[in-house]
Amino acid sequence: MHSRILVLGLGALGTASASRPCAPHALPEGTWAAPKEGEVRSPCPMLNVLANHGFLPRDGKNISKTIARAAFKDGLNLDPDFSDIMFDPAVLTNPYPNQTTFDLDHLNRHNLLEHDGSLSRADAYWDDSQVFNTTVYEETLTYFQTDTVDVKSAAAARMGRVLSSSRTNPEYYLNATAESISFGETGAYILALGDFETGTVPLERVRMMFEEERLPTELGWSKGTEAATAAQLFNLTQRIIDNTEFPALRARMNGGIHAGVMAKHH
Ligand code: HEM
Ligand code: MG
Repeated sequence: MHSRILVLGLGALGTASASRPCAPHALPEGTWAAPKEGEVRSPCPMLNVLANHGFLPRDGKNISKTIARAAFKDGLNLDPDFSDIMFDPAVLTNPYPNQTTFDLDHLNRHNLLEHDGSLSRADAYWDDSQVFNTTVYEETLTYFQTDTVDVKSAAAARMGRVLSSSRTNPEYYLNATAESISFGETGAYILALGDFETGTVPLERVRMMFEEERLPTELGWSKGTEAATAAQLFNLTQRIIDNTEFPALRARMNGGIHAGVMAKHH
C-alpha cells in the first residue's frame, strides 16, 4: 500500500514538472486518492469512486451535466442518457434555487435522493447517512453467500435492508419513488461493474466499490467496450425487481419502472 502511494506520488510529480508546474498536488485523471480535508463526498459509493479517481472533480464540487457525462464516459463508459437520468434529479438537491450544478454533499439531504434502507449507510435517524457504516454493510454482505452477486442475491440484499430498517427505525420512510431509485442503484452497480446479459457481478468488485471507493481495475475489471445505456439500466433493474420475493412490492415497482421507461422512450 505504501509503495503504491509512493509510486502515485512520483507519478504526480512527473506530470507536474512536465505540464502543470504550479500544481504539484494535481494527480492525473484515473489515479486514485482518498479525499483530502475540505473535499466533499456523498452517500453514493460510485460518485465517490469517480471523484477519488479524478473523473469527477476531486473536491466533489460544482458538478455540471457536462462534467457528469464526461466522468461517466471516461470512468465507466456509461452513455450520456444514463448519466442524465441520474444527473437531472441531483441538481435539485442543490440548496440554492435554479442551479445547474451540485456538490456531492448536497446529495445527503435526507428524503430527496438519499433514502432509508441503504446497503452501506445507516438511516439518517441513527447516524450520518452519508458515511459508510460497517454494521449496515455487514448485514448486506450476509446476502452475498457466493463470490458472484446475481439479480436474486442483489434483490435479497435490497429487500433485507428495507425490512430491517422498517422494523427498527421509528422514522423509517421509503416512498415508491425512493424504492424504485434504490433498485436502480443496485442495477447500476451490476451494469457498471458486471455483466448485463447474465445480470451478475463478481462480489470482490462490489466490495472494492463499497469498501475502498475504488474502481476494481486491479481485480481484472475494465469499463465496457460498448457504452451502457439507460435502457439497459431499466432492463436490469426490472430483472432485479422481478427477483424480489415480495409480490406486492413487485407489482407496485413494475408500474414505477415501466413508467420510467415510457417517459424516456415515448
Ligand atoms: C446511492 C446519487 C450515479 C451506484 C446513491 C445515493 C444517491 C446517489 C443520493 C444515496 C441513496 C441512499 O442509499 O440513501 C447518484 C447520482 C448519480 C449516481 C446523483 C449520478 C449523477 C451512480 C452510478 C452508480 C451508482 C453510476 C453505479 C454504477 C449507487 C449505489 C448506491 C447509490 C450502489 C447505493 C448505496 C447504498 O445503498 O449504500 N446514489 N448516484 N450511482 N448509488 Fe448513486
Ligand atoms: Mg441512505
